[in-house]
Amino acid sequence: MSMKNNIYQNTEENIKKAAEVIKNGGLVAFPTETVYGLGANVYNAKAVASIYAAKGRPAFNPLISHIAEKDFLKEYAAVDERVLALADKFWPGPLTFVLNRVEENPALDLACAGLRTITVRMPAHPTALALIKKSGVPIVAPSANRSQTISPTTAFHVADSLGDKVDMILDGGQCRVGVESTIIDITGKNVVLLRAGGVALEDLEEFLGEKVLISHGNPDLPTSPGQMLKHYAPSHDFRINALSREDGEFFIGFGAVTDCDLNLSPSGDLCEAAANLFAYMRLADADKNHDKIAMSPIPETGLGLAINDRIRRAAYKK
Ligand code: TXA
Ligand code: MG
Repeated sequence: MSMKNNIYQNTEENIKKAAEVIKNGGLVAFPTETVYGLGANVYNAKAVASIYAAKGRPAFNPLISHIAEKDFLKEYAAVDERVLALADKFWPGPLTFVLNRVEENPALDLACAGLRTITVRMPAHPTALALIKKSGVPIVAPSANRSQTISPTTAFHVADSLGDKVDMILDGGQCRVGVESTIIDITGKNVVLLRAGGVALEDLEEFLGEKVLISHGNPDLPTSPGQMLKHYAPSHDFRINALSREDGEFFIGFGAVTDCDLNLSPSGDLCEAAANLFAYMRLADADKNHDKIAMSPIPETGLGLAINDRIRRAAYKK
């Protein structure tokens, strides 16, 4: 099998085809000005789960939503004058904002890795913008490479790294910037740099007229204890690796388990389980008839690593 047979030139017809793939829950790798992204419909948790599976990520990292119009921001992020001014100045372009989510939209939980923030940018690439517009939804996309490998700047790099794990690779040639976007957290009073990238720190500071703080956290490891507190955690006691239900527990099963209130995936499909995870935790927490939650063991393979990482933190007692 040729690894190149899912590469498509970025013609209008192929972009239209790719938009259909996104709408139908598939994965499309597409060019941006920084690096190629591995894209899915931000509102489709099953599709988002398949991104983590394709990348082989051991944990759910928050993903960047790519939008084509500034108006989309208001749908899910808290915007103020500073955000809008930064967007006017630097978008489309290699600057990504971490913003507070405005509403509890559980469909976004997996893309946000359970955080209360949402991460957004508008890429400066005509193919990316056309794809987002034709898809009609924001496209969530990490760099289109396997976890722990170098970000791809050509369609061939994507094919090399991900092969047939992606339904379609749109070829837009070599990426102009070649390094990932600059990421800033603007949820607080000060602007904080989380990752250096395509927009220079000096340019940001000059525009803002103030110093940007530098985070010493590694954005590739959003697993530090500080980050953990910002995660959605159920308010009810949460017991993991439970083999059966105890009194008062809402029981979330997996696989062959039948004595449960909800089953993450009766067929034992870890991708399906990841897609359902956050929604089921919310449902269990909201259930009036139980004041505790228990969950079946999840196998420690494939997406199971990310699921276990997430639920261990949700079960952690402060
Ligand atoms: O240029 C780019 O930004 C490319 C193109 C495709 O847009 N995308 C990209 O995405 O580099 P990704 O997922 O490979 O890197 C995003 C990084 C991850 O390390 C993630 O953990 C971090 O940003 N990140 C995203 N949201 C965050 C948040 N709310 N808090 C802390 N870190 C965050
Ligand atoms: Mg990456």
